[in-house]
Amino acid sequence: MITVTPTGAALGARITGVDLSQPVDDATFAAIENALHQHEVVVFPGQTLTPEQHIAFSRRFGELEHHVRLDRCRPGYPELFVVSNIIENGKPIGSQDAGFFWHSDLCYAAEPSRGSLFYAHEIPMQDGQPRGDTLFASMTAAYEALPDSTKRTLAGRKAVNSYIAGYSRERKSGPRPQLTPEQRAKTPDMPHPAVRTHPVTGKKCLFVNEGYTTEIVGLPAEESRELLQSLFEHLKQDRFVYRHRWTQGDFLIWDNCSTQHRAVLDYELPLRRRMERTTLRGSVPF
Ligand code: SIN
Repeated sequence: MITVTPTGAALGARITGVDLSQPVDDATFAAIENALHQHEVVVFPGQTLTPEQHIAFSRRFGELEHHVRLDRCRPGYPELFVVSNIIENGKPIGSQDAGFFWHSDLCYAAEPSRGSLFYAHEIPMQDGQPRGDTLFASMTAAYEALPDSTKRTLAGRKAVNSYIAGYSRERKSGPRPQLTPEQRAKTPDMPHPAVRTHPVTGKKCLFVNEGYTTEIVGLPAEESRELLQSLFEHLKQDRFVYRHRWTQGDFLIWDNCSTQHRAVLDYELPLRRRMERTTLRGSVPF
């Protein structure tokens, strides 16, 4: 029987009693979706999944994104984006510094993703302790806790999300290759509501992030900069955050509307980390 146990943090629950390598019946799937909407992040420990099983379970939620960077996907599986520090035959097998800043996935796209399903294949261990945790922050809790005056300032406003700004940030792995004019043309800056409404729960979610949000439309530049900075500080407070310490075999789903996340890059080779992620197609924020 499926059991949902909240983490005790502002978000997150652990789900046991279901084997995701097997077809999941409708009632169990409905319970999983409800838990995801309620807890925003859910983790199924101890799963053993083939790539096909990972993809098949992900498809129960709807259409999957194919990642644009095929060189960062598992060979033969454009749905499986690899996040890893491993180098094979002189080439990285996946994205080495994905999610180093607080962000929500594809916030710079017209239809940001609905969520992701992230599977832990290899976890770096040092002195018996896992490294490479992931932090998740609840954007419903962060919005709820804002002062009324800030809620009023944000009401009805849009914020600009820029792939180019996020791409160009300084990274541990060094500078990235310049984006080509074609790539830049394909990723125009994207205004979305600074506070969006969750399409299922109807809850309001703060929708700005330090990785990609550059401006609150309609505010003087200095006021926009200061407000964004204070929102970035606000949303990452411990009271809104769940820190997931990975165990090999964890299968974790995050709701990309009601949360944002950040990777903790506190490990290096020879400690190996290998994760694979499917990404659910989303809808236009409102
Ligand atoms: C991501 O942002 O998709 C990766 C998060 C992680 O590697 O922990």
